[in-house]
Amino acid sequence: MDASIAILPGDGVGPEVISESIKVLDAVASKFKHNFNLTIGDIGGCAIDKYGTALPDITLEKCSNSDAILMGAVGGPKWDNPSNKIRPEDGLLKIRKSLKLFANIRPVKVYPSLINATPLKPEILKNVDILVIRELTGGLYFGKPKKRWDTSKGRRGVDTLKYSEHEIRRILKLAFELSGSRRKKLTSVDKQNVLETSRLWREIAIEMSSQYPEVELNHMLVDNAAMQLIRNPSDFDVIVSENTFGDILTDETAVLSGSMGMLPSASLSEASSSSSSGMGLFEPIHGSAPDISGQGIANPIGSILSTAMMLRLSFNLNDEALAIEKAVEGILEDGYRTADISMGSQANADTSKIGDLISGAI
Ligand code: IPM
Ligand code: MG
Repeated sequence: MDASIAILPGDGVGPEVISESIKVLDAVASKFKHNFNLTIGDIGGCAIDKYGTALPDITLEKCSNSDAILMGAVGGPKWDNPSNKIRPEDGLLKIRKSLKLFANIRPVKVYPSLINATPLKPEILKNVDILVIRELTGGLYFGKPKKRWDTSKGRRGVDTLKYSEHEIRRILKLAFELSGSRRKKLTSVDKQNVLETSRLWREIAIEMSSQYPEVELNHMLVDNAAMQLIRNPSDFDVIVSENTFGDILTDETAVLSGSMGMLPSASLSEASSSSSSGMGLFEPIHGSAPDISGQGIANPIGSILSTAMMLRLSFNLNDEALAIEKAVEGILEDGYRTADISMGSQANADTSKIGDLISGAI
């Protein structure tokens, strides 16, 4: 097939892990006879330096003209001053909002060969296979008013947590549907004992559940969910939650898989989440990791697995995605480790070696 992909390397380790994903894409293209046309665009801090904005129109245009987007990471200490008007993260939020990428899908898998890379007991990690579905274009991230101001009694700030029925329904619909294709157990995470938006969320979830009788719907308060996720993670199948809760819980679930560097994600629009074609943005869940950037030691697996998700969800190329996933599993079984998953011993592979090994195995 012919497909065009917008590549947004971003900041920090973003460009490093993206290079390895491109290697893997090249390997897939030659093995399966596809033609991927790549267009590179700027986002985040590098875009602020070049254009004075974290998401220049030219980048957005390249993305809109592509079939899918593969992103690295944004942010870094250079742009971190809290008094800055423009922040690298604004670029990511704006692209999610502009392209209506309301559904963020974060699969959490535990590789048997990495069980010792986590601080949790091996028996807790047995049979862990979770899909977190995070609402991505609503809630505290985007609600207005959102501002800071001075008063005679001191400084004030406000963020607004707001959800419409439509926003809640469309993310829950996806969650019910995806649960139906898995172990049919959906946990809706909220804070209904305190938040009005959560009470609305839970009410709608209960109303919708009658349309999906095959799916068992549970509700869990977010504080309890944070605890159960490390106490009994194999109890979860699909988790659905609003934007901020999903952000926090998915960093926690990364511990289950050994490292933030392992987890991929897909952000989908309504068209792309209901069929297997349409716009999606694929990125590892880790950030720009300024502490290790520039050293060539970052783990590219989260980005490479995001590439597999792109092939499967945006292009319907399931065999190709599986080939990548099997290659990742294979090199982990062979014992190759970047520093983040080397369990305190010496890492035996750097970023580019992992990319070479995975693309070589395809
Ligand atoms: C994520 C990140 C982003 C978020 C940041 C970089 C804005 O933490 O994708 O999880 O909070 O959504
Ligand atoms: Mg996050």
